[in-house]
Amino acid sequence: MSTPHPSPITDHADRTVLALETSCDETAAAVLRGGALLASEVASQIATHAPFGGVVPEVASREHLRALEPVIARALAAAGVTLDDIDAFAATCGPGLASSLMIGTSAAKGLAIAHGKPWLAINHLEGHLLSPFFGTHEGVRPAVALIVSGGHTLLVEIEAFGRYRLLGQTQDDAAGEAFDKVGKLLGLPYPGGPNVNRLAESGDPARVDFPRSMLHSDDFAFSFSGLKTAVRYLLPKLGDISLPDVCASFQEAVVDVLVAKTLRAAATTGRELIAVSGGVSCNTRLREKLRATCWARELELLIAEPTLCTDNAAMIGYVATLKLAAGETSSLTDDIDPNLRLVAS
Ligand code: KG4
Ligand code: ZN
Repeated sequence: MSTPHPSPITDHADRTVLALETSCDETAAAVLRGGALLASEVASQIATHAPFGGVVPEVASREHLRALEPVIARALAAAGVTLDDIDAFAATCGPGLASSLMIGTSAAKGLAIAHGKPWLAINHLEGHLLSPFFGTHEGVRPAVALIVSGGHTLLVEIEAFGRYRLLGQTQDDAAGEAFDKVGKLLGLPYPGGPNVNRLAESGDPARVDFPRSMLHSDDFAFSFSGLKTAVRYLLPKLGDISLPDVCASFQEAVVDVLVAKTLRAAATTGRELIAVSGGVSCNTRLREKLRATCWARELELLIAEPTLCTDNAAMIGYVATLKLAAGETSSLTDDIDPNLRLVAS
C-alpha cells in the first residue's frame, strides 16, 4: 500500500499534515506540524444516530459529506494555517463503513492532487494502537498493546513502529459493542458505553457474578457475547438488584478479563510497557484497575488521554507523520478497505 519515498528522514521532521477521519460516526480533522498537534476537531454524529440505537451507514456518509468541509475549515483556522501550508494529506482508509471511508479518502486525495502534495492512506487500528505514544518524548516503543473500541478488541505486541504481532482478538463482540448492547438492553441512550460507566459508579460490582468468558483460556482471545446474553437473562428476574448494580457487575466482568489477559500478554512476551487505546479505554474502572495492577507488577502503563481514545483525526495524523518520517507515502490508486487488518495474516 505504501511506496518508499527517496527523501531522508530529516526532510520530513517539520512537515505539516492535514489528517481526516471518517470511518464511522465521527467526522474529524486534525493539523499536525512536526508531530505536534496544532488543532483537532471532531463533529460527533451521536445525536443523529441515537434515535436508531446504532450507526446507520447511509445516514453516516451523508452527515460526513455535510460536516467534513466545515470541520476541515475549523481545524485549519484553529491551527492558524491555510491549505497552502499543508505538506501532506492523510485519511483513514479502513477498517470501517465503506461509504463513510470514501468521503474522507476522496477529500484527502482531491486536496493532494489540487495542491500537488502527497497523500497517505492510514489504518484506523494503527491510529488507535499508537495513540498512547502521541506526545510522549520517546515516541513509539516496544510494548504490549490493548485496543478496545466499538468495533475491535485486540492484543498486539509492538516491536517497533510498523512492526506488530497480533496476539489475540475477540471471537465475537468487541468490548465496546458489548457495552453498547447491554446499554440498549437496559434502555440507556446510545452509545451505551459511557452511560453504563456512569451508572456503574453508584453500583456494587460484586452484586452479580457474571461470567468471565475465556479468562483462563490458554490464548489471548476474547469473547463477550455470552456476557451480554447473561445480562439479558437476568433482566426479567432482577428482584432487588438495581440498574447501577447490573452496570457495575457487567463492567467488572469485562474489565477483569481485559486486565487479566493484557497482564498475561505482558508476562508471556516479557514486555514491560502496556499501551491501551480505543473508546473503551475511557472507561474509568478499566483505567483504575489497569493503573493499580500495573503499579503492583512494576509495569509501565500508557493510556491516551480520553479525547484521543475515541475516534479522532489526531491519531491518524500521528501515524501519517511517522510514515512521512520513514519516507512513505501512498499511491493515488490506493483505495479504501472496509475490512483492513492491522496485521496481514
Ligand atoms: O474508538 P471508538 O470511538 O470507535 C471505534 O473505533 O469503534 O470507540 C467507541 C466505543 C463505543 O462502543 C463506546 O460505547 C465505547 O467506545 N466507550 C466506552 C466508554 N466511552 C466510550 N465504553 C465503556 N466506558 C466508557 N466510558
Ligand atoms: Zn475507532
